[in-house]
Amino acid sequence: MPSLSNVIALGLLGVGLSVVGQLALLYKESLKYAKPPDTPAPFVCPSLDEVAALNRFRGLIAFPSVSNASREDHVNDQQVFRDMVSYLERSYPLVWERLQVEKVGLNGLSLLITWPGSRPELPPVLFVSHYDVVPVTHGSESGSESGSEEQWIHPPFSGDLADGYVWGRGSADIKFSVAALLQAATQLLQGGQQQQQGEGAGEGEGAGEGEGAFSFAPERTILFAFGHDEELGGWHGANATAALLLSRGVDQLDLVVDEGGAVLVDGMRPFTRTPVAMVGLAEKGYATLTVTLRSPGGHSSMPPTDGSDLLSQIWRLTTALKLMPTPARLQPPVSDMLVHMAPYTPPWMRVLLVAAGRPGLLNRLLAELLHRLGGREVGSLVAPTLALTRLTGGVADNVLPQRGVMGFNARLRRAAAMAGVKAEVALSGQDLMWPASRVTPADGRHFRLMRQAIQETWQQLQEGQPGPPAVAPFLVMGGTDSKHYAALSRGGVLRFVPYALNKSAGDLGRIHATNERIRADSFPRAVCTYARLMQLLAGPGAGPYGQ
Ligand SMILES: *[C@@H]1O[C@H](CO)[C@@H](O)[C@H](O)[C@H]1NC(C)=O
Ligand SMILES: *[C@@H]1O[C@H](CO)[C@@H](O)[C@H](O)[C@H]1NC(C)=O
Ligand SMILES: *[C@@H]1O[C@H](CO)[C@@H](O)[C@H](O)[C@H]1NC(C)=O
Repeated sequence: MPSLSNVIALGLLGVGLSVVGQLALLYKESLKYAKPPDTPAPFVCPSLDEVAALNRFRGLIAFPSVSNASREDHVNDQQVFRDMVSYLERSYPLVWERLQVEKVGLNGLSLLITWPGSRPELPPVLFVSHYDVVPVTHGSESGSESGSEEQWIHPPFSGDLADGYVWGRGSADIKFSVAALLQAATQLLQGGQQQQQGEGAGEGEGAGEGEGAFSFAPERTILFAFGHDEELGGWHGANATAALLLSRGVDQLDLVVDEGGAVLVDGMRPFTRTPVAMVGLAEKGYATLTVTLRSPGGHSSMPPTDGSDLLSQIWRLTTALKLMPTPARLQPPVSDMLVHMAPYTPPWMRVLLVAAGRPGLLNRLLAELLHRLGGREVGSLVAPTLALTRLTGGVADNVLPQRGVMGFNARLRRAAAMAGVKAEVALSGQDLMWPASRVTPADGRHFRLMRQAIQETWQQLQEGQPGPPAVAPFLVMGGTDSKHYAALSRGGVLRFVPYALNKSAGDLGRIHATNERIRADSFPRAVCTYARLMQLLAGPGAGPYGQ
């Protein structure tokens, strides 16, 4: 009869051999990722009057188009939005002349622009952005994390150009892409016009005069949807625009392109220092919950001993929540992200990242490791999160409160309820809950074309760094307007804005906060990327979905 120690030794040997076997397989697999995929040749961007183009973008920042949750219509001042749309019309006249521009959404404050393709049987591609911005807090509200107006180096609605950056609220989130998309459309329209007339054309103060042009006429219809309340969930803008499209029978878009990712010029640590363009393939769902706790009250010198006091209730609730398992998982698109980054990492890490792409013990271990050691950004990519956002109750120091309110924000990969707690739980606020999105495939035609457009137009990011950035999928934490259009899209949603963010320089932390800014040299690049993307997605040869 085998002794216990022999059995244990054999068992360990078996586990050891299987781990070694798995590692050997992974090592072999990782050799396939030793070299970055071939990058396309640089695309020659047509000449652009960069100063004039940048100034049109800067002018857009000067409109304080602030969304306001306290107002039923979601905007602080409708007139500001109307003036801003007139400004866009003056700045990009070719778009207004040649394309169908509609004022849509509540009070007509959002825009839907239709550029009909020559083959109406092809499903359209939709570019989504928004021109509302979050408020700037004033000194009286200081203590607020979003900083106060006095702390801005350049006034928040100045659009100042300094130190290589355009400064202001909305520069990075996300008037940048509204201006770049309209400028790109202008370049493309000019191309078509020059083809027809054999000469440059365009009149007036806006874009279009004597600037370089592509030669382009879309086969697939291109749509642009600019929302006016994305910061408050898009319920009056994008939701109404999506409903309008649906009512016209546009329920089979080829693709939606929205905000979400950017080019991280200092890479994605701890994985790589190579610049990487992050293209969001999915977004997390969320739920905003209000938990109301009730208690008998009374004098604070005699709190109840049966656990009905607020302190005990909060203790039970928070303990239950903290003990709730938050299983870390590596699944698409986060696993795709790691695999795509593998060629840019050292060989030992490559083996681990390749493990992310296949189910197995190592995959589970890696997920746990990233959750525990990856920091808040990486940690939130691999597991659902739950944050306490509000905590109120009580009126005096010697009175037991009869009511306490706790607010939670949960970000989930799947729609789920907060279980196991006996309390009054209500979804709170207007923008209550949204399920996690579908995942756009990382190996499909759309992701491939997006990578091509990025790599063709983002060569030579900086001195001494040859070649374009890596392109990797990722999971967007927040919810954007595209959630309203996702159900209409057969090809899913790609979430990416072609601008450079430098994490070490704190560019990310400035979004929704003080001293928001964006690199000025990203703007002409983005115009080129968007124009190229429109060409690839809607130009001749861009066949129906799936081809
Ligand atoms: C939002 O609207 C409310 C109510 O009209 C107003 O009191 C508040 O000042 C507005 N917020 C901002 C940032 O202007
Ligand atoms: C608009 O919002 C309503 C909920 O208010 C939702 O039922 C509907 O599906 C949304 N429409 C679209 C097109 O997203
Ligand atoms: C990013 O910012 C850091 C800190 O300001 C700087 O040292 C670095 O050169 C920047 N990287 C790029 C690629 O601009």
